[in-house]
Amino acid sequence: MNFKNDFVDILFEALNGQFEKNKMVQMIEKPKYEHMGDLAFPCYDLAKTLRKSPQHIARELAGNMNLSLFEKAEAVNGYVNVFLNKQVVSSLVLKKIVSEKNHYGDMEHGNGGVMTIDFSSPNIAKPFSMGHLRSTVIGHSLALITEKCGYLPVRINHLGDWGTQFGKLITAYKMWGDELKVKEQPIKELLKLYVTFHEEAETNPELENEARAWFKKLEDADPEAILLWEWFREESLKEFSGIYELMGIPFDSFQGEAFYNDKMDNVVQMLADMNLSEESEGAMVVPLEDLPPCLIKKKDGTTLYATRDLAAAIYRHETYHFVKSLYVVGNEQSLHFKQLFAVLQKMGFQWQQGMEHVPFGMILKDGKKMSTRKGKVILLEEVLNDAIKLALDQINKKNPDLADKEEVARQVGTGAVIFQDLKHYRRNDIEFSFEDMLKFEGETAPYVQYTHARAISLLKKGGFAETDNAAIISDLEAWPIITSFLSFPEVIKRAMEEYDPSLLAKFVIELARSFNKYYASVRILDDNELKQARLTLVCCAAVILKEGLRLLGIQAPEEM
Ligand code: ARG
Repeated sequence: MNFKNDFVDILFEALNGQFEKNKMVQMIEKPKYEHMGDLAFPCYDLAKTLRKSPQHIARELAGNMNLSLFEKAEAVNGYVNVFLNKQVVSSLVLKKIVSEKNHYGDMEHGNGGVMTIDFSSPNIAKPFSMGHLRSTVIGHSLALITEKCGYLPVRINHLGDWGTQFGKLITAYKMWGDELKVKEQPIKELLKLYVTFHEEAETNPELENEARAWFKKLEDADPEAILLWEWFREESLKEFSGIYELMGIPFDSFQGEAFYNDKMDNVVQMLADMNLSEESEGAMVVPLEDLPPCLIKKKDGTTLYATRDLAAAIYRHETYHFVKSLYVVGNEQSLHFKQLFAVLQKMGFQWQQGMEHVPFGMILKDGKKMSTRKGKVILLEEVLNDAIKLALDQINKKNPDLADKEEVARQVGTGAVIFQDLKHYRRNDIEFSFEDMLKFEGETAPYVQYTHARAISLLKKGGFAETDNAAIISDLEAWPIITSFLSFPEVIKRAMEEYDPSLLAKFVIELARSFNKYYASVRILDDNELKQARLTLVCCAAVILKEGLRLLGIQAPEEM
């Protein structure tokens, strides 16, 4: 509902069909300032055809239009500016939302095509850090947004469950590990071992060799190495699953790096057969134009991150026949994905065109990157639990009789953490702040959730009954809410095109603000003939706030 077509229909009629409709729709603009109207049509291109000045044409058109949906038209500097008839437009959009509910804004855009989304993908035997939080929440939201746009998302967790870090971990475990301690607190204990390894390796370089040897053993399927690896993997996965459950994030696949162990020989062979690879100082590489060569196999025969990603891309295309394939991974891996895509191009895979790296900035602590090696991590699970506890404290203070308190606290606490991340444009670095994560006012999820709950409570108190009657809203204060509704589909579309959930985060804040202003200035429940119409507006606000939050991966409790 952007009314461009309606505007063009009227212009077309006034022009006696002398111009092409499609072209005219493309030309519609938004006036620079709100007081100048809602839509604008520039008359400059008509000037030649009509042999009149744009100013003249604009004046003629503005004076000669069948307005219907619009309340007035003005000619300004060669533009026809029109103002939407607020009452007509309001009742149209409210009617649409009441009938479509949470499906308002659904799009066919993706035509049911599969979009694989590789996100979260933490590294086993390392803690789930704040850095992985970004990939997790952005990827999850993108899956929901693309689904709303008509794609079929396949959520893939490409677990980092293979690689040289396991050599280090096994070495450390053999030297300093304690089985009981690892069983009690696997992630914490394994992190300790990982950190100790790096501390000790600074003065004892022999450790690195030892680690390489263990990783080699692992790749050669040495039973002891495999046993330890399986154990570490299982324990880590249990902990990760707990976090995903807490945040309400599902995956379709947990096939991590190790899954591709038996699929890499094939890739290496293909590259050799196609004459794309060559030997370089004992290692195998694929030389690339404009990029450093892509390393496929190390000197000692062990395979690499890139080789696994090559195998994974081919496997994913064979398995899912994706039309698009996203990788939600930090900025710092840009080169890796450029190389990956370039190699697949060289191999002649047309479908590579559908692949995209969706990068994001780092979470910094005091302006610096957090490093797992030095143990400088903040554990996501602790942050989430703190936020949930804080939410529960607030509920106990303000609404102690609330049913299902624990569940509401979970929704509010995790919502706060998720939103704090998603409200930032994804490519920017974010400074980590506990305080911000635990803030429930201002630009936060709890503020939006609270606004939604307030709307629901108004509907209950007012005895709102859905009717087919178009609601006539004459309150001026309602207009910002209506324009928000109107823009929602457009915002979703842009969020999808730019892979940018922050647009939706800003949208829900804006809508919540307009709603609260309306609430403060209009006595919604006053018993007069406007009550039902106003409640219809409230109902639509509740629907859109809830749907907007849902697309960010955040739930909206009815009461809090
Ligand atoms: N495990 C990697 C990391 O934490 C991210 C993996 C991203 N996905 C991929 N297919 N490379 O850095």
